[in-house]
Amino acid sequence: MTLKKAVFQAGDPVIFFDKKERSYYAILEAEKIQNIRGDFIPHDEVIGREDGVTLFSQRNKPVHVFRATLSEQVLYMPRGAQVVYPKEIALITTYADIFPGAKVVEAGLGSGALTSGLLRAVGEKGTVVSYEIRDDFINNASKNLKNFFGGMPDNHIIRQMDVYEQFEDADADRLVLDLPEPWRAIENVTPHLRSGALICCYIPTILQVKTCVDELIRSRCYIQIQVIETLEREWKVDNVSVRPSQRMVGHTAFLVFARRVEFGVQPVQPAKSARVEAERALKQ
Ligand SMILES: C[S@@+](CC[C@H](N)C(=O)[O-])C[C@H]1O[C@@H](n2cnc3c(N)ncnc32)[C@H](O)[C@@H]1O
Repeated sequence: MTLKKAVFQAGDPVIFFDKKERSYYAILEAEKIQNIRGDFIPHDEVIGREDGVTLFSQRNKPVHVFRATLSEQVLYMPRGAQVVYPKEIALITTYADIFPGAKVVEAGLGSGALTSGLLRAVGEKGTVVSYEIRDDFINNASKNLKNFFGGMPDNHIIRQMDVYEQFEDADADRLVLDLPEPWRAIENVTPHLRSGALICCYIPTILQVKTCVDELIRSRCYIQIQVIETLEREWKVDNVSVRPSQRMVGHTAFLVFARRVEFGVQPVQPAKSARVEAERALKQ
């Protein structure tokens, strides 16, 4: 799995960046011509050059070419399913503590956006296993991963299985669920997670969050249940005009994190019960 290539090769995902700071995503291909709003650059002029090279288009306009970053790849990749956005990939990899060498299981694979971030975080010594029910999504995600990593990463396993019913991976360090009803997977998957494992559920609506948290508490296997949302606002810095951008990446999803306790041991009082008790005590 080669992530950084200083010299461009056919098959690399790149960004053409024009004078007006607009980005154009492409996979480099011999004999292909890049169309930049009616102006042109042959991919053959990029192949063999260094990441960050500045070229001149047919109309003699400067264009910078960069290897696509993980965030760019996620935003531009062909989508089968809705992707996890870069702002959540960043949070998931840090708050779910995806570490080099970890065994991470995720469901579902979707377009492979989050998978790219997980594979990067576990590194070559780690493993990512992705459960997915739809073969069209598996095909699309496989192409996306191949484009980004320059080949199928050999530490990635895809299981075409329904994670609500099936699970084949013992001793997972981390579990990430991004599928319509993550709470339905918890009972099936929890016995296979190692003690101390972290789980993260990516959930679009707050009523679903409630159902998920209730299930985590009901299972009596998790503590440190934490719900987080992140909003991303860019700032424009232009001479003396320094202000927030009018548009922002607002709500995309809530993230629910929790930690698996030792087998056969009752966790310390879960957050919800603790809150209910505290409220009762206050009223007395
Ligand atoms: C929102 S998408 C995941 C997007 C993915 N995380 C990404 O960043 O590209 C949800 C995926 O879960 C899959 N899925 C739904 N139910 C499933 C199940 N029971 N077991 C496994 N995968 C499932 C869907 O087919 C879909 O691809």
